Amino acid sequence: MTTVVETVVATVRAIQAALLVVTGLQLTGYMWPPSATVTNGATYDFIIVGGGGAGSIIANRLTEESSLNILLIEAGGDPQLEAVLPGIFPTTVNSAVDFNFTSENDGYSSQNLKNGVAGLTAGKMLGGSTSLGHMNYVRGVPNDYAKWAKATGDDSWNYWNLLPYFIRTEKLEDPDILASDTAQFHGTNGFLRLTRQPSADNTPIFNAYNELGINPVLNSNDPAFAIGISEPMLMIADGIRQSAAEAYLRPIADRPNFHLLKNTQVTKVLFDDNKSAVGVEAVTSDGETITINARLEVILTAGVFNTPQLLMLSGIGPSEHLTSFDIPVISDLPVGQNLQDHIPATVVHTLAPGEPVTAPPNPHVFPVPLTIAYTALDMNQAYPDYQTINLVFPPDNIASVQICSIVFGYKDEICQGFFDGGSGKSTFFSISSMVQPESRGEVLLRSANPADPPVIKHGIYSNENDLHKMALYLQDFSRIVNTTAFRDMGAAMVELDLPQCNDLERNTYDYWKCYALNMSGTIWAYSSTCSMGSVLDSNLRVKGVQRLRVADASAMPNIISGNANPAVMVIAEKAADLIKATYGPSPRSK
Ligand SMILES: Cc1cc2nc3c(=O)[nH]c(=O)nc-3n(C[C@H](O)[C@H](O)[C@H](O)COP(=O)(O)OP(=O)(O)OC[C@H]3O[C@@H](n4cnc5c(N)ncnc54)[C@H](O)[C@@H]3O)c2cc1C
Ligand SMILES: *[C@@H]1O[C@H](CO)[C@@H](O)[C@H](O)[C@H]1NC(C)=O
Ligand SMILES: *[C@@H]1O[C@H](CO)[C@@H](O)[C@H](O)[C@H]1NC(C)=O
Ligand SMILES: *[C@@H]1O[C@H](CO)[C@@H](O)[C@H](O)[C@H]1NC(C)=O
Ligand SMILES: *[C@@H]1O[C@H](CO)[C@@H](O)[C@H](O)[C@H]1NC(C)=O
Repeated sequence: MTTVVETVVATVRAIQAALLVVTGLQLTGYMWPPSATVTNGATYDFIIVGGGGAGSIIANRLTEESSLNILLIEAGGDPQLEAVLPGIFPTTVNSAVDFNFTSENDGYSSQNLKNGVAGLTAGKMLGGSTSLGHMNYVRGVPNDYAKWAKATGDDSWNYWNLLPYFIRTEKLEDPDILASDTAQFHGTNGFLRLTRQPSADNTPIFNAYNELGINPVLNSNDPAFAIGISEPMLMIADGIRQSAAEAYLRPIADRPNFHLLKNTQVTKVLFDDNKSAVGVEAVTSDGETITINARLEVILTAGVFNTPQLLMLSGIGPSEHLTSFDIPVISDLPVGQNLQDHIPATVVHTLAPGEPVTAPPNPHVFPVPLTIAYTALDMNQAYPDYQTINLVFPPDNIASVQICSIVFGYKDEICQGFFDGGSGKSTFFSISSMVQPESRGEVLLRSANPADPPVIKHGIYSNENDLHKMALYLQDFSRIVNTTAFRDMGAAMVELDLPQCNDLERNTYDYWKCYALNMSGTIWAYSSTCSMGSVLDSNLRVKGVQRLRVADASAMPNIISGNANPAVMVIAEKAADLIKATYGPSPRSK
């Protein structure tokens, strides 16, 4: 007999195959800047590698200077329907627009995910991972950025000095926040349109949290906010995903100094004898290898896995590791060594009984009511310990299976357990993640061949203290079932069959410790593989070489307690300012 999970997975695979066919219609083609013709040996002032969350912003800002000629090189192509409609993000996972990276199986963490590995989803298209991510816009707290300032020894990276960049990116359209006194912390003239999607279905959730002392907060990006629950801002407007491609590339298609080369993978950064980056080697969609020159700088924004891979292929990385692949070392740096991710675990509760919804879902909105809670064991702390993303699903809703099985990649038994345990009731699907992990992973080369994916050791729970803390966080969260709001609905936690945990007494520290390890995976907040302070200086320049910067999620000294994208955006906005300050408005006249 075919299970619900098998049916849902098969259906999504069939939809992906159908969408791939629809790609031929080029339905979204009109939205995106065309690809430039770039000849072997061509020269530009700046070459930006990777048109994702960060690269799109830098391309936009640098082309504001009409005297600068910019080439943006992107490995993927145009975002298609599934990347434009915000409601169908599960169909992007393991499709042609996903690099399909996975962690190495460490035999310890992520063992209840398919094949015992975390699916480290990463977008391969204009907009990069912002074209397939989950669109929550949460900046993190000032304490996160205070750590950046400390790691770099440069106060320009503290929250208050970055605030103008947050404001510059944003075009906030939520009337409630705009009417509040936190409006002063937001922009209304930026490229990134932000909205919210309040829902009455979240009322019992707010009530339950309130009973636990976690207050409803209108604006989770209020810098005074550390602990509370909110309906977050979303990178969605007019029913369209506000990816970095939509927000930053679409508006600049007509700039004559903006050149975009799609479907082309950069395979190496080229240096002269003085260790100055002078260009890149790339493989075009025809399979041709070309060299392109950069007169001023090469800027890497290929994401947390591809940027360190590209640096190492180019001779920048741990010398022993590079030497083992016969790659000549240009600068010996701890590239790839500081990988960080939030560490999640999913818990599902049943809420009130009800009838399944039969109306088709609206693909233009975030699919279900959503809240994000931030909690600390010490409620007086100025920063959260863990984040809980809460989704409320109607009874017997297969979207919950898509999220469980395809997006998170949990094994079929787990998702079937959640689905069967929730039968006939609406469900409260909660992902609690520790936001300040001590565990570290690493990105290494698999070979000297750029076509081989990097080796990614996710490293979650490699520091035992994290497992201890996560047990406490899950135990803390579990109190929600005893709130009046939840009791009134007859809420109950869905018990999973976790063989190694079953004998442990429920609600004990030991049970939650077992549960935490058994339900571990990824929440895609990866960062810090080429950190400022170790690999980069505080102006994002790669140490030991000239004219080369990294300005994407890799550059963070440490993970932030929000979702990664807003932090990536301020890195990119600031990078553009640093570059403009270095070269002035008319570098040609110098
Ligand atoms: C499933 C998922 C859900 C997420 N949800 C959220 C969320 O809700 N909120 C949030 O704030 N953040 C979220 N994120 C994180 C956010 O999307 C990333 O932090 C952000 O996109 C990182 O930007 P980046 O520029 O570092 O990398 P990316 O956006 O991944 O861009 C890298 C780009 O470089 C290109 N590239 C790579 N290698 C090469 C090469 N060799 N040559 C040329 N081009 C290359 C890639 O194709 C890609 O376009 C999510 C991420 C994922 C994967
Ligand atoms: C990712 O995997 C899917 C399913 O196997 C495949 O169709 C797709 O082409 C892969 N993506 C890339 C970028 O290779
Ligand atoms: C390297 O630097 C030296 C000394 O500054 C200079 O003479 C030489 O031309 C430079 N070489 C290149 C390839 O730029
Ligand atoms: C809920 O309350 C009951 C009765 O007081 C108690 O036995 C149980 O452990 C509590 N559950 C949680 C998760 O705190
Ligand atoms: C579940 O946790 C137990 C106790 O820590 C551990 O022995 C077991 O390997 C874990 N199983 C999975 C599938 O993660």
